[in-house]
Amino acid sequence: MLRTNRRKIVTGGAAILGLATPTLLRGQGMGGGMMDGMGHGGMTGRSTVGTPEPGAPFRPLPELDARGGTLNLSAGAGTTRFGAGAPTATMGYSAPDAAMSYLGPTLRMRRGTTVAARVANATPVPVSVHWHGLNVPSPSDGGAPQSVIAPGAAWDATLPVAQPAATLWYHTHVHGRTAPDLWAGLAGALIVDDDATDALGLPSTPGVDDFVLILQDKRFGSDGAAIYDPGLMEIMHGYVGDVVLANGQFAPEAAVPAGPVRLRLINASTSAQHAIAFDRAAVLIGVDQGLLPAPVEVGSVTLAPGERAEVVIDMGACGAATPRVTARAMAGGMMGGGMAGGSASHALMTLRADPARPARGAVPARLTSEEPDLSAPDVTRRFALQENMGPLQMARGMVGRGPVMAINGEPFDAGRVDFTAPRGAVERWRVTTDSMAHPFHAHGLKFRIADPRRPEETGWKDVAVIDGTRDLLVQIEATTERGVPFMFHCHILEHEDAGMMGQFLTA
Ligand code: C2O
Ligand code: CU
Ligand code: CU
Repeated sequence: MLRTNRRKIVTGGAAILGLATPTLLRGQGMGGGMMDGMGHGGMTGRSTVGTPEPGAPFRPLPELDARGGTLNLSAGAGTTRFGAGAPTATMGYSAPDAAMSYLGPTLRMRRGTTVAARVANATPVPVSVHWHGLNVPSPSDGGAPQSVIAPGAAWDATLPVAQPAATLWYHTHVHGRTAPDLWAGLAGALIVDDDATDALGLPSTPGVDDFVLILQDKRFGSDGAAIYDPGLMEIMHGYVGDVVLANGQFAPEAAVPAGPVRLRLINASTSAQHAIAFDRAAVLIGVDQGLLPAPVEVGSVTLAPGERAEVVIDMGACGAATPRVTARAMAGGMMGGGMAGGSASHALMTLRADPARPARGAVPARLTSEEPDLSAPDVTRRFALQENMGPLQMARGMVGRGPVMAINGEPFDAGRVDFTAPRGAVERWRVTTDSMAHPFHAHGLKFRIADPRRPEETGWKDVAVIDGTRDLLVQIEATTERGVPFMFHCHILEHEDAGMMGQFLTA
């Protein structure tokens, strides 16, 4: 098999796997053809070597119970085979009794407890752990430049778990290298439990009727190893893989009880938006920051990078269910949907009902009762997410080979704090974008999207897809201390690394 330019492989895994050959070429954005690393090309890189195979038994991620109040993680580098693929250089977070070369154990925390966390860095590069969605004081948030862990060093964080039950996650957050290192695997799930949610009787037995699915898209080279090598246009418009893996597995199969089965979906891709389509009756019960007031029937959910959804599929009547998944670049505005390409739809996993397994749990008609009053925001702040800066970019030049991106005209600068928000405030954040859609995220807070367009946009969120102008009704939940800021940024990690990020303090 010919060794080809890795950036120009377009058929990749999907074709190899016997799925429909993608008809859209990846990464052909505006002005295609002028710059290198465009991701265009012909039918190259086809290989039967070492690619994932569907149907392997589902392996749940190990769980690390932090409800007792302590937590030890260690970031390490290693290699991982995706399916039967060639070894890929990856990174993972390991617990003392769970060695992980890719991703990390699922952390369990409980509302009302405080967790003392220690994270060691056994990799040769700077890493960090940001507890995405866990609203804790800034020195323990892990997102600030002050929280970077040097190779060989360790970092201690005190995590007061004060929020309702939710599916959160954790990941590295080192400015300038978040995209490649998170792609390599520095991510895991973080589940917060509480009494109120336990009392609902939802399916909640991990690995039996309650599954964490960390989604990452991957592109495979002709040698069968996964590759991450975005060109300039892919940094701008999205680096999208050929297949979407669940916890590193391609289309695994799980035997489940013939009753309700809960999927906790986490989009941990660098820039791809994933649509998950259900072929059986499914209800959305939760989003980023916790449960919805009531379940909502859904045929599909779409998750931008950083977003989560909890879905329950009723396996009581159906024998088998195969949710399907796609990866697409975030589009919108003038970019249009089709230009950015993406993966063919393929099985995310298969659930097979086994009548011998006892079905437990149910989905009640009411899930939460909280009705927030966000009707009188104290202030309105404006955030313009800028990718195609034109004059600004020309004035500042390029950093290395990459573009410079900004919020309100300012690329990220660790020495600059953009604003101070009063603790406990309710604020209207009006976020705009002039070209493609961007998933906007901020630390230490939660918000409602003022004009939700899909069930996934209702409820308490911490990531919002901004396409045009959208208003977020923000509730500041945690405080900054000792001058350590909270971050706000685009969760397309290539954009975050290119400077689409800022910092704020609370007072
Ligand atoms: Cu998921 Cu600032 O990050
Ligand atoms: Cu975050
Ligand atoms: Cu962006």
